[in-house]
Amino acid sequence: MNVENGNMIKTRFFRVSENNLEDVLNEAAAILRSGGTVAFPTETVYGLGADGLNPQAVGKIFEAKERPPGNPLSLLVHSREDIEIIARNIPEKALRLMDAFWPGPLTIVLEKNDIVPGITSGNLPSIGVRMPDHRIPLELVKRAGTPLAAPSANLSGKPSPSLAAHVADDLTGRIDAIVDGGEADIGLESTVIDMTVEPPVVLRPGAVGIEELEKVIGKVRSGYKDGKIEDNEGYPDKQAGQKYGHYTPDTRVVLVEGKSKFVSEKIVELLGSYRRREEKVGLLLSEEIADLVAVETLGAEKCFLLGSREKPEVAAKKLFEGLRDLDKKGLDVIVADGSFSCSGLGDALINRLREASSLRFDV
Ligand code: TXA
Ligand code: MG
Repeated sequence: MNVENGNMIKTRFFRVSENNLEDVLNEAAAILRSGGTVAFPTETVYGLGADGLNPQAVGKIFEAKERPPGNPLSLLVHSREDIEIIARNIPEKALRLMDAFWPGPLTIVLEKNDIVPGITSGNLPSIGVRMPDHRIPLELVKRAGTPLAAPSANLSGKPSPSLAAHVADDLTGRIDAIVDGGEADIGLESTVIDMTVEPPVVLRPGAVGIEELEKVIGKVRSGYKDGKIEDNEGYPDKQAGQKYGHYTPDTRVVLVEGKSKFVSEKIVELLGSYRRREEKVGLLLSEEIADLVAVETLGAEKCFLLGSREKPEVAAKKLFEGLRDLDKKGLDVIVADGSFSCSGLGDALINRLREASSLRFDV
């Protein structure tokens, strides 16, 4: 039954429809109750769930994802009552965030109760908690009768999955079941905010922006920069939760940020130099930059379009699909457009592009 021994698990695949939803939920919940692993959609990305209070079950998540031990998982809950079981000394500001943004794409780091095993929290005294805005995980938590540890359902270091097919690519043979409930609505992982410190620190940008948070709880600090945690004075020991890298496709990614005109000129220049070196290039572009670059004439192997640069929420939804798609094409390099508008999901989008890239130009 376990991957390390080279024995593959038989992974069941459930495609949800209106007719079979009840049956799928019951079967998936039974697997979770018996200590198994099930991947399912949420409104952000697909998650890989297991009983978050059962150390053996949580161990299977680490094994399946090849996630480094010590990288904390977050817990999905179904109701506010669940939180009392797993967290303590919950600050009043955290309650306000729950009122304002739950169910939704916000993970709140709280002081944990002893019932949460060390393996789940990466041996930190705190734990990330989220109530998802999606019927399938909410029902699974309820029917499994336990908070579910649920990191993104990708192999560690790969882009998060926005489609069940991405989960199947990474985890078939490693987990007990995949529930296919269609494309994840947002496409980027939740905002993470640490409420165990004052002022609270945003550890990962997501669909809930800093301005929105500040409207509800006042001053917050940004604890990320260029995809990595800032060397933040007064916040040294918390970095344990965020020291692990994210999204690195196997193909190297070169990101070009700046004003559209300069971005397109830089991309044309890069394409020329890669072509002279006979390197195969893939492009990840907004429609506007694709028009300016005139992709076909430049001989890029493959171009994945992320929609208009004025609509970062559309690009966010397609980003991980684009990275995964291009990563399969046997390319030498992916050149990515970083000219998207910073409004709404734009900040989170640029953060994920920076994390995926090994080289950045700001033109
Ligand atoms: O949108 C999401 O949050 C998705 C869906 C599936 O719910 N889940 C997800 O899980 O992205 P994961 O494990 O890939 O990311 C959870 C983040 C990680 O960056 C982790 O380091 C952080 O939350 N985290 C969890 N507990 C923490 C803690 N006690 N202190 C600091 N960071 C913590
Ligand atoms: Mg992840």
